[in-house]
Amino acid sequence: MTDIKNYIDQNKQRFLDELFEILRIPSISADPVHKNDMLTTANFVKEKLIAAGVDKVEVCPTAGYPIVYGEKIIDANLPTVLVYGHYDVQPAVPLELWDTPPFEPTIKKTKIHPEGAIFARGSCDDKGQMYMHVKAFEYMMKNNVLPCNVKFMIEGEEEVGSSNLGIFVAANKERLKANVVLISDTSMIANDTPSIDTGLRGLSYVEVEVTGPNRDLHSGVYGGAVANPINILAKMIASMHDENNHITIPGFYDDILNLTNTERVELNKAPFSLEEYKTDLNIAEEWGEKGYTTLERTGIRPTLDCNGIWGGYIGEGAKTVLPSKAFAKISMRLVPNQNSDKITALFKNHFESIAPKNVKVEVRPHHGGEPVVTPTDSVAYLAAAKAMETTFGKKPIPTRGGGSIPIVALFEQELGLKSVLMGFGLDSDSLHSPNEHYGIFNYLKGIETIPHFFKNYAEMSK
Ligand code: BES
Ligand code: MN
Ligand code: MN
Repeated sequence: MTDIKNYIDQNKQRFLDELFEILRIPSISADPVHKNDMLTTANFVKEKLIAAGVDKVEVCPTAGYPIVYGEKIIDANLPTVLVYGHYDVQPAVPLELWDTPPFEPTIKKTKIHPEGAIFARGSCDDKGQMYMHVKAFEYMMKNNVLPCNVKFMIEGEEEVGSSNLGIFVAANKERLKANVVLISDTSMIANDTPSIDTGLRGLSYVEVEVTGPNRDLHSGVYGGAVANPINILAKMIASMHDENNHITIPGFYDDILNLTNTERVELNKAPFSLEEYKTDLNIAEEWGEKGYTTLERTGIRPTLDCNGIWGGYIGEGAKTVLPSKAFAKISMRLVPNQNSDKITALFKNHFESIAPKNVKVEVRPHHGGEPVVTPTDSVAYLAAAKAMETTFGKKPIPTRGGGSIPIVALFEQELGLKSVLMGFGLDSDSLHSPNEHYGIFNYLKGIETIPHFFKNYAEMSK
């Protein structure tokens, strides 16, 4: 039997070539013009799972994009790991900000990735991380070292809220029976500082529309006498944080489960340099809720952010117009035990209540997702921590991730399953941004670590 390190050495180029192939398909779930690309990607994942030795692989249709599902059951008495990942990616716009085209994967060296990183949309989030599991599984099959049962569920709608996956999970409880969910779709602190996320924030997302006069007006003829919906909207959004950067929506913080002082001290022990953070982002000063550190602001505190705002004239040159309408997309990141439906309702009430009489407002809810915390004393967490300790030579640090993976809370609710968030990306890998990349080191380290997780988990479950 070859060990995993040898196997990677022998197959490294093929592992990269195959990842490049899937990265070339623009599987953007948010944009319907990519429907065929989505189906091509789902089939690609299916073929690769079959080639790796997974049985009964199916591309399961949903009301949206399909879910690729397959399993390898070796012994009903052994534990079962459900591997979750997503094959869809975020839109790549604005394209002009990419140094190389988003769907032409290119290897370039960076300061953080001196051994080279793969630049492409989805390289880190989540095709690269998802595909590590396929290759780690291939290794375990080829070398007869698969120690437990595995189920793969790779979806195509994570970046648009996973609502069809929620339906699939609720309808397939028996089929999805497992002991734990394993997910690589989060970040670590640094390549020499492994960490495991033990929580994810929830999400409430709304679009607002503010209407003033019944048509666009001449801003000289009417300006000064009619409320400008853009001015009003800007003021309304600004009013939703007070001078301490607390969110002003009544009841917004009511359900939050506050951490104990010991837990906060523990969380702040994670290595973090505010100076490096500011330098990396080229900002002179950080921002956030008074009384909390940067790690707490992204890990354990909720947010309210305007993600996009538009209205009026944004073309070349100047047009003197007092617009009829203004719009914004607003996201709120949630923490335990806030509930996304409740927060959306609180937002709607508040937004309507602060609107002056000279405009009409409408709030349209988008997708939501609930926050989660995952245990650090479970067999699966300990198995993951031990696996990372073996391959990185350092114990991983438990951290709180600021992003959201809405399905994780549903795994708990619908299937009674806890997840382990063993991610190998870095926050600086520009996920969702231009020039997204994933370190070759990270890709191969993930493939190396996953079989250790399986081995530890099977042994420690006995
Ligand atoms: N993989 C990310 C979530 C993530 C990234 C968690 C880094 C922790 C660290 C996921 O693909 C994602 O982007 N989720 C969306 C939510 C979705 C409903 C659009 C998010 O967090 O914005
Ligand atoms: Mn992701
Ligand atoms: Mn994402």
